[in-house]
Amino acid sequence: MTPDAAAPTSATPAPEGTRRDFLFLATGAFGVVGTAAALVPLVAQLEPDASTIAAGGPVDVDLKPVAPGQMIIVRWRSRPVFIVNRPDKLLSTLQSPQLVSLLSDPDSQNHQQPDYAQNWHRSIKPEYGVLVGICTHLGCIPQFYPNPSPTTPTAAWLGGYFCPCHGSKYDLAGRVYKGVPAPYNLPVPPYRFVNDTTLRIGENPPDSSYDFDSIIQL
Ligand code: FES
Repeated sequence: MTPDAAAPTSATPAPEGTRRDFLFLATGAFGVVGTAAALVPLVAQLEPDASTIAAGGPVDVDLKPVAPGQMIIVRWRSRPVFIVNRPDKLLSTLQSPQLVSLLSDPDSQNHQQPDYAQNWHRSIKPEYGVLVGICTHLGCIPQFYPNPSPTTPTAAWLGGYFCPCHGSKYDLAGRVYKGVPAPYNLPVPPYRFVNDTTLRIGENPPDSSYDFDSIIQL
């Protein structure tokens, strides 16, 4: 796997754009991160060739280089997929009453994930978050701010994703905050573990038939 570090830049589109415009901008520019957010590499996937990726085929990802607290972005169906390694320190926040009280859909009641990710960590294994990185408001790419901060990117930040376009906030499980423009949690794609260190995006575990196209909103 060859890391392909993305240059920090701004992904803020014009405010009058339609959702389609925003999605176009987002998918054309993914891999970018904000200047103040954590640097996130856009990595090359294992195995699949360009035609497989274009057709939406499964994509294998080597998890070994993803250190605790880090995130990578891979491409699936021409969309950015965030894969984040969440150590205990970050996971503990996801169940804190302080955070949960601020979330719009803390129990993932809206169909934005498969059954196997309808839990407090929205994933198969708590330590690995897997999310489609497209804001459910108008399609910008949220930025990764994993650590709590009193000031950055907003006051009293608890760690998660911040969308600079119109200020939507998500926690490290992709759960959206109340009172922001984005209406839904970030989608979870179908995925499974091929082995302890290899993730396959685009394929469900053997006992699931989750259809990504059935989610409420990308
Ligand atoms: S696109 Fe508007 S807040 Fe994310």
